Amino acid sequence: MDTKERIAWLRETINQANEAYHTYDNPTISDYDYDMYMKELVDLEARHPELKTVDSPTERVGGKVLDGFSKVTHAVPMMSLSNVFSEDELRQFIGRIQKSVGQVDLITELKIDGLAVSLSYEEGLFVRAATRGNGLVGEDVTDNVKTIRSLPLRLKQPVSITVRGEIFMPHQSFRKVNESRLLEGLPLFANPRNAAAGTIRQLDTNVVSKRGLDLFAYTIVESDQYAHTQKEALDVLENLGFKVNPHARLVSDTSSLIDAINTYDTLRKTMPYDTDGVVIKVNDIALHETIGYTAKSPKWATAYKFQAEQVKTTIQGITFQVGRSGVITPVALLDPVQISGSVVARATLHNEDYIKTKDIRINDTVLVHKAGEIIPEVIEVIMDDRRDQVPFEMVDACPVCGSLVERQPGEADHYCTNPECPGKTMNLLIHFASRQAMDIDTLGEKVVAVLHDLGYLQTIPDIYGLNAHKEALKDLPGFAEKKVDKLLKAIEDSKNQPFEKVLFALGIKHVGQKVAKTLVTHMKTMDHLIKATAEELALIPDIGPMIAQSLKDYFQISEHIAQIEALRAYGLSMEDRSEDILGETFSGMTFVLTGKLETMTRDEAADAINRLGGKVTSSVSQKTSVVVAGSDAGSKLSKAEALGVKVIDEKEFKEMLDDTK
Ligand code: IVH
Repeated sequence: MDTKERIAWLRETINQANEAYHTYDNPTISDYDYDMYMKELVDLEARHPELKTVDSPTERVGGKVLDGFSKVTHAVPMMSLSNVFSEDELRQFIGRIQKSVGQVDLITELKIDGLAVSLSYEEGLFVRAATRGNGLVGEDVTDNVKTIRSLPLRLKQPVSITVRGEIFMPHQSFRKVNESRLLEGLPLFANPRNAAAGTIRQLDTNVVSKRGLDLFAYTIVESDQYAHTQKEALDVLENLGFKVNPHARLVSDTSSLIDAINTYDTLRKTMPYDTDGVVIKVNDIALHETIGYTAKSPKWATAYKFQAEQVKTTIQGITFQVGRSGVITPVALLDPVQISGSVVARATLHNEDYIKTKDIRINDTVLVHKAGEIIPEVIEVIMDDRRDQVPFEMVDACPVCGSLVERQPGEADHYCTNPECPGKTMNLLIHFASRQAMDIDTLGEKVVAVLHDLGYLQTIPDIYGLNAHKEALKDLPGFAEKKVDKLLKAIEDSKNQPFEKVLFALGIKHVGQKVAKTLVTHMKTMDHLIKATAEELALIPDIGPMIAQSLKDYFQISEHIAQIEALRAYGLSMEDRSEDILGETFSGMTFVLTGKLETMTRDEAADAINRLGGKVTSSVSQKTSVVVAGSDAGSKLSKAEALGVKVIDEKEFKEMLDDTK
């Protein structure tokens, strides 16, 4: 196969895999193979820019930083929908249609809660995506929309067409995005819709590419050229390669319409994405012109809005939580209520300003919901039910240690000023031991709490001193011998964690996983980092003045330096050792990874090989030096055996890695 053929084959394979995975939820190849093919294609296109095309799947990986978004005038305006909120209003809507055109079939579709987008194709090629904007003029978000894996870059027919649909963030992506924002110390997105809208307006397409957005197409502009009915239009969209929501239904009378809506209301609670209603449209497209439009919306369609699950309850008290960086978060203690499938007894009140703006007080009756179907939140106070409660006052002393609480100018949060606050310490210890940080298995919340209360764990270095209390620990209730051994071994193993994990584990404000990695890459050692001035730090890409200041503040405290020295003495890594291992051991060798590895992910294995100068490829050939076969290895293993390529198992692979240390 020559390069051109290989590129064509890779594009075809990746496109098919994309469609199978993202449009039909039916993966055909492993994520690993997908990544490897993509990597190969990116490499080939970089080496042969003359073979690049605008519909290549590599266009989706981002890599562009935009200066802003230019304006796009919609050739056909993007209208909005009227809303109905009750069965009564729904009947009136149908009555008006019947008066105009008589009895007609309706089609119901889930109303996806995201943001509308207009997609233009020329002769089958995707050329532009624009947001709704004010309906007449939107913003050109082509580069960002390109990263959405389920969006076809080339249609199955060479048509010039404009299609409209909804960009949304599935719950799974939303959770992942917020989890990592939490680790990075960034404000969380309140719900998937905000997250999707925020993502589409990102200037770095790389970020967009990783956020896991998705898209359902639901309208063909000037659809009468393609279909007689909306049902047919949805089929056309699907046949062109778009992802179309599978829950559209045809109904021909009001009572089946109401049944359908009730079914949707149950169904939506199990959906992996947010929906906020049902869109009801006249199915026969020829009737749309006859029924007509108001200035803002079609008269042949409406949105029946679901009641977002908001539940009334009372606030029994307000408590305060102390986070690892000392942030004090007020939390409402509620009369427990069932909301969207679970019992809720606590809801976040965010900060002092949130409470003051909404004037939330103890004993108030309030409406509570789950923001983004996930985080319980107090929405508003039912003022009619208010008796004579006292206005809320933020605590001036830390609820855990009693020290002074402070609010920095320009920040919404209050902080405990005591660097040794036990509330802070406990959360810091839990963070330090967490999987993303030092990965000390079994040193979770409960164990930390017990050891902290008994005085064994007061500071981070105490973790590494636990060994000395081995016998005493075994006598503690709930600490069997095996459990203690396991804990101590996990602690010992954690000493091998690289510097970037150690730095992240320290829990410095604004130093999340990514920031820690960047700092380590640029500063190399803890000593350099401690000595660096705020100006020097702020020169590092992605390190802003806020992070730089936070590091300076942290290192100014002598206890922090003492703690770092103690950890260094225990053998924790305080410098970037990745370059030491960057040996040549595997130089010139090509590895293929196949099957399931037990003790590491394939990414980690590939990373280790790359660091040692080796290459990882996806398919076995005469040129392959070694095949690492995990469990359930399939055709690649047989091929290696047939070609006489060296095959090793995971244990042997790990030994090879250990030999290089
Ligand atoms: S049809 C004339 N169908 O709802 C407007 N819209 O409030 C035709 N939406 O801006 C829109 N799911 O963002 C239509 N299945 C669906 C929809 C849908 C979500 C959104 C869309 C629109 C908004 C109208």
